Amino acid sequence: MTEPTEKPWTGRFTEPTDAFVEAFTASITFDQRMVAYDIEGSRAHAKMLTKVGVLTEDELKAILTGLDEVEADIDAGKIQWSIRLEDVHMNVESRLTDKIGDIGKKLHTGRSRNDQVATDIRLYMRDEIQLIITEVKRLQAALVDLAEQYYDTILPGFTHLQVAQPITFGHHMLAWFEMLKRDVARLEDTYKRVNQLPLGVAALAGTTYPIDRLYTAELLGFEGVCENSLDAVSDRDFAIEFNSCASLIMMHLSRYSEELILWSSAQFNFIELSDSFCTGSSIMPQKKNPDVPELVRGKTGRVVGNLVSLLMLMKGQPLAYNKDNQEDKEPLFDTIDNVRGSLKVFADMMPAITVNKAAMYQAAQQGYATATDLADYLVNKGMPFRDAHEVVGKSVRFAIDAGKDLSELPLADLAQFSDMITDDVFEVLTLEGSVAARDHLGGTAPAQVKQAVARAREYMGS
Ligand code: ARG
Repeated sequence: MTEPTEKPWTGRFTEPTDAFVEAFTASITFDQRMVAYDIEGSRAHAKMLTKVGVLTEDELKAILTGLDEVEADIDAGKIQWSIRLEDVHMNVESRLTDKIGDIGKKLHTGRSRNDQVATDIRLYMRDEIQLIITEVKRLQAALVDLAEQYYDTILPGFTHLQVAQPITFGHHMLAWFEMLKRDVARLEDTYKRVNQLPLGVAALAGTTYPIDRLYTAELLGFEGVCENSLDAVSDRDFAIEFNSCASLIMMHLSRYSEELILWSSAQFNFIELSDSFCTGSSIMPQKKNPDVPELVRGKTGRVVGNLVSLLMLMKGQPLAYNKDNQEDKEPLFDTIDNVRGSLKVFADMMPAITVNKAAMYQAAQQGYATATDLADYLVNKGMPFRDAHEVVGKSVRFAIDAGKDLSELPLADLAQFSDMITDDVFEVLTLEGSVAARDHLGGTAPAQVKQAVARAREYMGS
């Protein structure tokens, strides 16, 4: 393929573009990833122009055939992108004109690259958002499976990273599931604002041709059109919103990562990640490192950084389009690649974890995790909660000095702090009794986890 000699806008210029400036201002190195959407948008635009009588049926036929050929060349890897043609829009148009001659030059009637690029991004993002939702749901499905399998597996729940109360592993997995449910809802809501068509407003003010924007929207499957031409070409809120959803997803994955890293340490030993998701050390032969969660935790900062980049990109811009906007793509693409990759690796990794029930149980037995249950026991027998808190505090102090768990103390030792403590106390001091007693909507009881799994499956449509 020969290099084109002319840019489409050289008419008013007398000097050629500085070579460095040409490369500096070009976006083809990264916006080429939107090419399929650029062509899709062009097809719809040409059809609309024909419907309103701006193009003839023959011209439309030539343009559609030409676009098909350009697309086939791209798929076959036959296209060499040209920096001189700046961006994906001018590259495609130039290839089209190479193929079908002057008719190709008519495609740009009644549009500008300003509305074209805004349309391409939205088309591209629609697909990406759907793919990301699919990955989130795959991870959710893995979590629901784990919740079902380990609905009554006991581990310590933490506050301040100190043992607090016993919980069930299934309940913990469903906490993660809930976070992702909100992520899906946010993405679906953002999708509505992405799914509005800017095309047709041309450079900024609209166009003098009798265009039918609703028809173009219908052809491209947009729910509606952007209603103000100035806003249509300059709005990038939808990209910022999306990146904000992505940041929350990454923040969630980062929190899961933190727990997985802790849990897989020798000190916790609650879970083991599969070998295929870990790496070794080049110097310490015994090591098996949780690189995947660590990397996901690390990538979170970068995705949040992209959100800040996009916000800063927009904050100083007057209406309407400014070249600044070209800087929206790299952060956006980077976010998409990283959030998709992180979700994929999590969805693949989670079903392959090994859960060490015995270590979890043993850890829950340490740290006086059932102290609150003892307090509740006294309250049930008529003691005010604050007094019960005091009695249990003293019992725990005593147990610490004796080097024992509450459940290991003889009744006489416990009863010295309150005569309300009798034989039946040992039922509430067991871990099983403790979790089973939290038997209400949202509680950790195995019976509740089972019901929550059923609700989760219904939500997932499976
Ligand atoms: N490559 C440009 C971008 O990504 C396309 C729009 C250029 N428009 C212009 N008037 N220079 O934003």
